[in-house]
Amino acid sequence: MKKAGIILDKDFIIGEIDERIYSSFIEHLGRAVYGGIYEPGHPEADENGFRKDVIKLVSELGVPMVRYPGGNFVSGFNWEDSVGPKDKRPKRLDLAWFTTETNEVGLHEFADWANKANSDIMYAINLGCRGPEDARNIVEYANHPSGSLYSDMRIANGRKDPFGIKLWCLGNEMDGPWQMGQKTALEYGRVANEAAKIMKWVDPTIELVACGSSSSEMPTFGSWEYTMLNECYENVDYVSLHRYYENPTGDTPGFLARTMDMDDFIKSVASICDAVKGKKHSKHVVNLSFDEWNVWYHSKEQDQEIWKQDRWNRALPLLEDVYNFEDALLVGSMLITLIRNADRVKIACLAQLVNVIAPIMTRNNGGAWAQTIYYPFMHASRYGRGSALKTLVNSPVYSCKDYDEVPYIDAVATLDQDGGVTIFMVNRDMSEDFEVEVDLRSFGDLKGISHIIMHNDDVKAVNTGEAPFNVVPYEADRPVVSEGKALIKAGPLSWNVLRFSTGG
Ligand code: AHR
Repeated sequence: MKKAGIILDKDFIIGEIDERIYSSFIEHLGRAVYGGIYEPGHPEADENGFRKDVIKLVSELGVPMVRYPGGNFVSGFNWEDSVGPKDKRPKRLDLAWFTTETNEVGLHEFADWANKANSDIMYAINLGCRGPEDARNIVEYANHPSGSLYSDMRIANGRKDPFGIKLWCLGNEMDGPWQMGQKTALEYGRVANEAAKIMKWVDPTIELVACGSSSSEMPTFGSWEYTMLNECYENVDYVSLHRYYENPTGDTPGFLARTMDMDDFIKSVASICDAVKGKKHSKHVVNLSFDEWNVWYHSKEQDQEIWKQDRWNRALPLLEDVYNFEDALLVGSMLITLIRNADRVKIACLAQLVNVIAPIMTRNNGGAWAQTIYYPFMHASRYGRGSALKTLVNSPVYSCKDYDEVPYIDAVATLDQDGGVTIFMVNRDMSEDFEVEVDLRSFGDLKGISHIIMHNDDVKAVNTGEAPFNVVPYEADRPVVSEGKALIKAGPLSWNVLRFSTGG
């Protein structure tokens, strides 16, 4: 058995974990809205057409905030289309995903759904085909109490109280050639600054996310962040990061090492924010919003086929990745990476939530189930609250295509408000058990209360509508703490959640 060590100290705190790092994303894309959260006539539909089985799965997952309504979709979206009487709402061609948007679900309906799912909304505005004026109008519509054109329009549309949306995205992936209204960094920085100013003049309590690069692989990554922040730094609060990983060649060790890239990406964007801060002699700190992250590749060929055969239909089954066990391990490691960077990453959205590259799947007129990636997210959202602890991991390493020194054991610990400690840990080793010694001496008396494990001998094992519980977590023996130390067995390719409480 290989050996590793984890050393924790109650005073070595990285930062408070902002609960918004457990957010997700619903775009008007594929069957996320229509056939996902909303399916009037389904046996599980409530009086507004929302599927109660999906709401239950979302609530159990624990998603404090949902980014909406896009994504690429938002760059061609007119928010006015989605409010007012449903029979007057226009049908529009959606040029992001080559479907027809019927606008049956809009801001009012989505806010009702989010309320039922215990989530707040992070609302993205269109800075692709539209500009600052529409941005200020939607803030007025959503957040101004009354007595103005748009706030009174909201009231006439049946919503007396403001929606009170606190967090807004200034467009989406504006560096991408696939984006409607793509901009250079300078063009975007200017328009983001002007939109930000007037949105905050309408409602000074809101926070704003500027678009960073759509991925760290973009040729303009780095210079994009610097140039656009140079234009809008004082008026924005966060910069967005987006990253999806894939394993098309079946290289599991290399795939599981991709969080090294994610960590570098976070550190680089934080450095650029601070460089602009320094250059401007500013006291303002811009933090990070990792508002799209996940595995995404399983469905890409299938989507090309769908578009060949069927364009412009409503709710095409797009981006329906079926996630396997190794995807769940990487998602676990991505969550570890987000928690480890809790001092700078204040928002993160698992992209997306239902049917579209999602932890939750549905069948039209059928069931709903949890994919493999659902479980590590649920564990992190439930137990990864409080403070992130500096986690010293002493682990043997391996080398792979992109990295020379990848620790087999990837781990981070959190300290909750009652003094309880949780450790999230992935063993990346393909074949060997690890004995991990966890040093908890600085916490005083702690007792082990649970060890959750997720493992499957087949890295390609999946959950489906027919076999929804094929890959699920299970409880192992409780960890035993003796003289402040616990010896934990972490099996090969496993996700582990270790929980300790005070009063040993
Ligand atoms: O999440 C799917 C798409 O990925 C989003 O619409 C876009 O922002 C990103 O490229």
